[in-house]
Parts: sequence; structure tokens; C-alpha cells
Amino acid sequence: MDKLEIIGGRTLQGSVEVSGSKNASLPILASCILTNKVVLKNVPLVTDIQTMLNLLSSIGSKIKINHQNKTIKIDNSKKHKTVAKYQLVKTMRAGVLVLGPLLAKYGKATVSLPGGCSIGPRPIDLHISALKKMGAKIKIINGYIHATAKYGLKGAKINFKKISVGATENLIIAACMANGKTILTNCAREPEIKDLTNFLVKIGSKIRWINKRKVEIEGVKKLNNANYSIMFDRIEAGTLMIAAAATRGSLAIKKIQPRIINKEIDILKKMGVKIIEKKNKITVIGSKKLRGIKINTLPYPGFPTDLQAQIMVLMCRAIGNSKIQENIFENRFMHVAELNRMGADIKVKGKQATIIGNKKLSGAELMATDLRASASLVIAALASSEKSTINRIYHLDRGYEKMEKKLLKCGAHIRRVK
Ligand code: EPZ
Repeated sequence: MDKLEIIGGRTLQGSVEVSGSKNASLPILASCILTNKVVLKNVPLVTDIQTMLNLLSSIGSKIKINHQNKTIKIDNSKKHKTVAKYQLVKTMRAGVLVLGPLLAKYGKATVSLPGGCSIGPRPIDLHISALKKMGAKIKIINGYIHATAKYGLKGAKINFKKISVGATENLIIAACMANGKTILTNCAREPEIKDLTNFLVKIGSKIRWINKRKVEIEGVKKLNNANYSIMFDRIEAGTLMIAAAATRGSLAIKKIQPRIINKEIDILKKMGVKIIEKKNKITVIGSKKLRGIKINTLPYPGFPTDLQAQIMVLMCRAIGNSKIQENIFENRFMHVAELNRMGADIKVKGKQATIIGNKKLSGAELMATDLRASASLVIAALASSEKSTINRIYHLDRGYEKMEKKLLKCGAHIRRVK
């Protein structure tokens, strides 16, 4: 298993380009089931994307990947099998996003329950109850979701009792080919969902956002082919911003839309980080005088849970204490034990972590536990002034494209060891 060797103490300098968004690519790839030929550009070639492509191939999609220009050609003109196997869904929960499109296009779908992961049980009750409201008959047997809609899905009025990114995505996609109109309220409004609906409209779906959390979809019988370019990965952008601040560097982060990461920019500025915003890039200038801060992770446009582990490292370096309340997932403090082994002083009580500031981090042999925890260990290793080794970086590879190459280019002393 690959690991990363990092000798910290160097500042990140120069400029770096952000890849396409993993969390926009996954629902858009799943929604391609609804149509025939699609060309997607700016897709990040990370493990989770490969897993989704394997899943689509396993049900009959013809996939061509151009690694040079990160373009994926998908041909779905052949009728799909409608079974998404456990082997492919267990490692990547977003595999459940094929449930809506398969059900909408073929009137049936058998999809493995995604199961939990290290950050929480990750239920899909919101997906299932909403699809039932659209007329689907759904049974859970031997760890699989058996869904049928013999006469197709029918439009419905659905209010999500809890904000869920995946449930919002699954239902928007399903409603595109339902009979009649669907109105979804209390939707998640992450930018990746907007990217998904922009793509769906481009292939001919009739989607109208009534307000920020309410969307109306008029089902259609057939959808068209299209070319589409995926938005930037705002979580990678946030991770790089925090890494630049934690190493007290001066880093230009390119190919982004600053207005989409307003909250992250605002939090870093409140901590004392200098940020210069331009049209498609920001420059982050770290400071020795960082202030502690209190953060609540919230659905967009709140501070994203996917940056919670990363910002915690920056808080260790602040003058003064900080607090993080993790409101989205049940068990997303797995990185704390590893950070404390590096000399951090972080206490967790229920959903809240208290981070004592002014801590110098030492190097250590570390173990990654999940995607964003692994990113926080990379930042901690860069911010310490000693050597660290991070094991099980397959977690990092799930959602960051060539992270060590990007950091090397910005002056970090980092190498992947097979
Ligand atoms: C998406 O996961 C993202 N994944 C996650 O990013 C992200 O952390 C999460 O949204 C929150 O922003 C992708 O987009 C592929 P949810 P998702 O449904 O859709 C509960 C990363 O690091 N819930 O919004 O699974 C759930 O348990 C990943 O890139 C139900 O109770 O998140 C959680 O507590 C990690 N019932 C909360 O809602 C349901 O049916 C938010 O989950 C569905 C969810």
C-alpha cells in the first residue's frame, strides 16, 4: 500500500490549479444513464470516479477515458442491466446514485445498499421514502434495494425532512423522466447540485429552481446527447487554501470561482489569513498571527463538513483556542487522535471538538482513516518542521488528483513511496 513521506517546514509558494469536482462528477456520471452519448470534460481522474465508471461499465455503459485531457466519453445507447453490485457500491457510497436514473429509465433497479463508512452509518432512508412517493415499490432484501415502477415513476410533491445532498441528487435525476411534474422542497443546494441541474438541462430536462431549496422538474420521455465541462472542486480548493495558510506560504489557487467558496474565504480572513480575490483565482498569504475561531459545519452555504478536518490543523497553529461543532456526520473526528499524536491538544466531547492553539506539530508515522482526514494529515505534516509518513493514502487518492505532484510543484518536500 502506498504511503506519503513528507518533510515539513517549507512554505507553499507559487501557483496551483484545482481539478474538476469529484462530487459534481459522480451524480452527473450517474445521470448519463438517462441519455445516450455524453462527453464530460474536466473530470478528476480519482479512485471514486474510476469506481463509478466501473459501476456504469458493469451495467452496460461504454466508457472511453482520455487521461491527457481528462475527458470521458460515455455511450449509453445499449439497454442497461439494472443491477448495481455490492462489490462496486460498498467502496463508494455514491454508487447509490444509479438508483434514481435506472428506476426512471427502465422501471426497475436492484442496487446494493451502500452501507456505512468510517464517518458514519450513511443511511439512505430519504432517497427511498421519496422514490416511494413517486410510485416506486421498494423492498430491502439481503442487503439490496429492489425497486420497481412498472408504469414508470410519477411526478410528486416531496419535502425532504432533512437536507441531504445525495437524496436531492437522486430525486432530481429520477424526476427528469417521471410522468408529470415533481416539486422537491428543503433540497440541499451545494454547488455540485447546481452543476448537476445545469448538465440535466443541457441534455433536455425541464428543471426550474423556484427558490434556493425548491426545484420543479417536468418529466420528459427522451433526453439528448451533450458535451459538458465539470465545475471546479471547491473542497480541493479549500484544502489547498488551508495548506497554504498552515505553512505560512503565499499560494495562488487557480481555475476556481471565488464566489462559490465565500464562506471558506470569510473564515480564513477572520482567522487572520490574507486572501486576494481575482476573477478565477485567489492568492492565500499565510500569517504568523492567526486567531482562534468557532465553526459550525452546516449544509451549503454554511462551512462544509468536508473541510472540517483540514481547518482543525490550522486552528492548532492559531493564538488562542478554537471550537468545531460537527453537525453533519456522526463520527467525523477520526483525524483527532492522529493530530494529537503530532502534539496537537484537541478534546472531543460529543459533536464538539475544542482545539488548544499555539501548538507546534511534530513529525510522526501516521494512519489515514478516511478521505478528508487524510488531507488533514498531509496539511499537519507540511506544517510540522519534521519528517512524517502517512500510511493508507488510498483514502487520499479517492478524492484528490495527484495531490503530491501539486504540492511538490509548490515547494513541499513530499514523495509517494510504493
Ligand atoms: C455528500 O454525501 C458528499 N458526497 C459528502 O462528501 C459530503 O460530506 C456530504 O454530501 C455532506 O455535504 C458526495 O457528494 C459524493 P448527505 P451524502 O446525504 O450525499 C444523513 C467527501 O468527502 N442522511 O447530504 O452521502 C447522513 O447520514 C464526501 O467528498 C440521512 O439521514 O451526504 C448525514 O448525516 C464525504 N438519510 C446527512 O444526512 C439519507 O437518506 C448528510 O448526508 C441521506 C442522508
